[in-house]
Amino acid sequence: MPSYHQEPVALNPAFRESSDIDIIADEKHKLATTPPSPHISEDGLTDLDKSTLSHRLKTFRKSFKYLHDLTEKQVDDFMASYVIYNLDWADEKQMIAALGPDYKEKVGECLKAYYGVLNHLCALGDVEKMYIPPLMSKKATVLENQLMYERAIAREIRIQPGDKVLDLGCGRGRVAAHMATISESQVTGINIDPNQIGQAIAFNKEKGLDNKFVVQDFNSLPLPFADHQFDAFYQIQALSLCKDLKALFKEIYRVVRPGARVSLLDWVSLPAYDPNNAEHVELMGRVKPLIGAVGTPTPEILEEALEEAGFVVVKSENASVGGLQAPLIDKVDIYFRAVRQLILAGVKLRMLPYHFKTLINRLCLDGEAFVKMDKMRLISTSYWVVARKPEA
Ligand SMILES: C[S@@+](CC[C@H](N)C(=O)[O-])C[C@H]1O[C@@H](n2cnc3c(N)ncnc32)[C@H](O)[C@@H]1O
Repeated sequence: MPSYHQEPVALNPAFRESSDIDIIADEKHKLATTPPSPHISEDGLTDLDKSTLSHRLKTFRKSFKYLHDLTEKQVDDFMASYVIYNLDWADEKQMIAALGPDYKEKVGECLKAYYGVLNHLCALGDVEKMYIPPLMSKKATVLENQLMYERAIAREIRIQPGDKVLDLGCGRGRVAAHMATISESQVTGINIDPNQIGQAIAFNKEKGLDNKFVVQDFNSLPLPFADHQFDAFYQIQALSLCKDLKALFKEIYRVVRPGARVSLLDWVSLPAYDPNNAEHVELMGRVKPLIGAVGTPTPEILEEALEEAGFVVVKSENASVGGLQAPLIDKVDIYFRAVRQLILAGVKLRMLPYHFKTLINRLCLDGEAFVKMDKMRLISTSYWVVARKPEA
């Protein structure tokens, strides 16, 4: 049996048979009672930390080398790609004015230039999986919170051993590896960025996992899959990059079997956000580029698009304890600020090429605006919607 971070566990059959309300209650109880770090040894590291530490060092070195060897064009394209985060799918006129009539393709090019570099920048920190998870436990690290949340997804979409699962915007295939391991399923990941797909294939192969990874832009439909091919579906923080949510959800509806469950974790603007409030608008203008969001859906937009595709929404809530992600955003922000200081010193001493300064300065911009918006409950990147496709 392949191993990845934690031992494979079959999902609790009692959990699978519970009603939706029981599942939510059970999940909340588990979150409240799960000790975040069950085995803390004398050196203060958890078993989980120890199993991932050597892997983390290896990844850090690889990504550092990749960033070191970036060409001038790659750096320029990365910086130029930020143009898309000042736009919004909802304002097509503005999109066309900035990018031209073939703006969908232009956005795709920017996404590749952006993620091709960003995934390596993220790998320098504790966000090799490029998402800040819902806050499940304040005492746990970002990675532990990710692992806890991914287990919650597996339970919620009721993955069974042998199931085929689709992961949209699959990053470097780390979530897919964890998911396949804990549930003994096979995950297919899609991603617009060949660089991440290459890493996902290598990583999953190294772990002995039979997961599949395909380069595919989810704004280019149809998806290359047969009807009813998958038993379950999840995506983590990729939907703001989708031009047409309704069309995408219709495609997902087509490729999952009747009775399948789907899980979306994403960035949303919340009811307290007021587009006529100058402070809110200014904060939004800083946070969208920081988190790399093009669209700004609301929970209602996600729900309506799912329902129009034929799904039945069974859960729609902020998955962070108390509805706030700020403690985790702070952790990531503080870490990257420390990395930034080291990088700036390295550049000053001419030990690192200058482009490291350009990249890290861009990455570290506006972390505090993200924390502020989260605390004001204007936005969240931990909004969780679960839906099911009715039985035929
Ligand atoms: C913010 S990251 C989300 C974290 C990611 N799910 C993970 O596991 O690391 C967004 C992911 O979606 C991918 N992506 C962005 N736009 C896409 C598109 N149009 N089609 C397919 N994948 C896309 C990115 O390359 C990136 O891997």
